[in-house]
Amino acid sequence: MTNSATTYSIPALHESIDQLPRFQLAHLPTPLEHASRFSQALHGPRIWIKRDDCTGLAFGGNKTRHNEFLIGDALDKHADIVVWGAGLQSNNCRQTAAACAKAGLDCHLVLGRGKPADGPDPIQGNLLLDHLVGASIEIVDDEVGPAVDAKIANAAARFAKQGRTVFEWNRKTVKPLAAVSYMLCMTEIIEQAAAAGFVPDAVYVCSAGSTGAGLALAHAALAQTFPVRHITPIVWPWDTQADMARIANDAAELLGIETRLETADIDVTEEYVGPSYGVPTPGCLEALTLLARTEGILLDPSYSGKAMAGLIDHVRKAQFDQRQNIVFVHTGGTPALFAHADELAAAIAPRVL
Ligand SMILES: Cc1ncc(COP(=O)(O)O)c(C=O)c1O
Repeated sequence: MTNSATTYSIPALHESIDQLPRFQLAHLPTPLEHASRFSQALHGPRIWIKRDDCTGLAFGGNKTRHNEFLIGDALDKHADIVVWGAGLQSNNCRQTAAACAKAGLDCHLVLGRGKPADGPDPIQGNLLLDHLVGASIEIVDDEVGPAVDAKIANAAARFAKQGRTVFEWNRKTVKPLAAVSYMLCMTEIIEQAAAAGFVPDAVYVCSAGSTGAGLALAHAALAQTFPVRHITPIVWPWDTQADMARIANDAAELLGIETRLETADIDVTEEYVGPSYGVPTPGCLEALTLLARTEGILLDPSYSGKAMAGLIDHVRKAQFDQRQNIVFVHTGGTPALFAHADELAAAIAPRVL
């Protein structure tokens, strides 16, 4: 059970959040759109899409919100270089590199390929954009997680030795700051839904970290009762549910608010990851195609596509009726479509006349 004597208002949350350093990057608020043809195709509830794929910077996505606070912090600490990393097709790294370009910071990325190279790495999708916005890039064989993190730390130490002021994005300190940005997204959802005449019956999002932690924290602080369902894109080697509660509580502490979450407050499922992180599942490919062909909205093959596959499955299992309103937070990731062009083309059977 959520542990808090105090309920906050949206202006009170904004007041706490406004105390933090912030660098404006995103087009906010992102639209909340009714996906009417998509909803009809599923014969299910009214599905609304919170368009965080439209946050604006270099193809947008959830990390642009995160970076408003992370780059704000880097500038506040007078950093001149950001050292960060993740997978070869990381959306996070693409948005971070673009944010650094806009803030006038250098950016060094350590990107894990997850296997030894079997030829040159195709400069496509997010990797192409990393180069385009001017990041320096180091590609390693390791998987995303502790092994890549250790190499990020090595790179940061190297730059520090050269006399650079490094803003090393230690995940323990950056995650709560990133979560704060998604508290604001939850306030937007509540306000936009109210303006459209409804209270969400559920919010769905692709998350296994800060994004969902921020949504869940604001939801609890504002005493909302609808479920917030986190569909993970990855099975981490740690307890994701406990980790997300911890991130939320660290964010609450940072803001000086009393709300605290327990592990059980985080509604999370790993059911739609499929055989592996980053490998599109049949459900993901169906979700991608159906949303594209009914709404012209593009999901991505590693994150938002899998989360939408989860929502579609829940609709088909009749978890909602047609009068209900479900909000799906589209966290972006679309440049990765191009890195998966061959698999996607095979799956969607292109219609060439
Ligand atoms: C498109 C997209 N959606 C969702 C996520 C998950 O975000 P978080 O790690 O904050 O849970 C990511 C993370 O990289 C992402 O790139």
